[in-house]
Amino acid sequence: MHDDMVHAKAGVTDARLKSKSAHPRASWLDFLQNAAFAPKFGYAAARLDGSPELRAHKVGVALRRTIRAETAIDEMTWQGRIETVRREMKSCKAELSFLDHGAGARKRRPGSFYPSTVRRSVAELCTSASKSRLWARLLFYLVRELKPQGCLELGTCLGISGSYLGAALKLNGDGRLTTTEAAVSVAERAQYNFSSLGLNNIEVVTGKFQESLPTTLARLAPIEFAFIDGHHDGTATLRYFEQICSSAASQAVFVFDDIRWSGDMSSAWRTIQADSRVEHSVDLWSMGICLLSETAEDGGLPSEFMAG
Ligand SMILES: C[S@@+](CC[C@H](N)C(=O)[O-])C[C@H]1O[C@@H](n2cnc3c(N)ncnc32)[C@H](O)[C@@H]1O
Repeated sequence: MHDDMVHAKAGVTDARLKSKSAHPRASWLDFLQNAAFAPKFGYAAARLDGSPELRAHKVGVALRRTIRAETAIDEMTWQGRIETVRREMKSCKAELSFLDHGAGARKRRPGSFYPSTVRRSVAELCTSASKSRLWARLLFYLVRELKPQGCLELGTCLGISGSYLGAALKLNGDGRLTTTEAAVSVAERAQYNFSSLGLNNIEVVTGKFQESLPTTLARLAPIEFAFIDGHHDGTATLRYFEQICSSAASQAVFVFDDIRWSGDMSSAWRTIQADSRVEHSVDLWSMGICLLSETAEDGGLPSEFMAG
């Protein structure tokens, strides 16, 4: 389908698609990442064009807007402000001490046990754990296009992806984000960032997902959009998928990060893609998007995934 038709179908007007050139300054790494992922994003968007469903087209528009940096002035202002916060944190030597739950450790050192207390500078943590501009922008445009109300993030960290999600909701004029994080000092820094950006539509919940998720979901249901970016363990990811599904709105959209983090994360992603409740899935190599069907009733993963 022609781009204009996709934009028109998804309600995107010309006025919103004007300012390609004045986008906040990107680093060469951003350019490289953009170039590397452009074909994947383009292919996924073209595949979604074939769907008769408006929501799939909106996801396609978000993919195209991300890669082409099609950004309206107000959107660019928000992205620029968040990138300023990122830049400040990348030069911040202050150290945070927190319990590392092991989600960021691809390989565990022999003899090390999680959770263990670690000290990291804000700069180190921001560089290693925060979503890069490409992926943060994708989240932003997904929320701009889909206009969800109840949004959930697992894995706040310093609040970069949360800020992009919160800013998109602000621009939508509606909707709230609840974001959850186990490391208290890290969550405090995220809260500071949200406040300094004026993102009063974000609530930070501190605690391990395993413990906080049931009550958070009971309070927030129905969830229309979820970003799962923490505890990259296949079994845990399937359990979170199952839990969030049971509190999800009809036609909710879930985004999973690090779907190829490990063998068991890849296999969890394949299980999610094959789940009967998932109508469309988009594989962007490191991130996966799934669009739940209209009535995402319990297709039911085996019960072992529900055990705490
Ligand atoms: C990759 S970082 C999130 C980055 C963030 N979404 C961003 O892009 O700005 C993952 C976060 O999840 C948190 N985390 C990992 N396992 C967790 C668990 N079981 N419960 C709660 N938080 C957890 C970690 O402390 C870490 O801050």
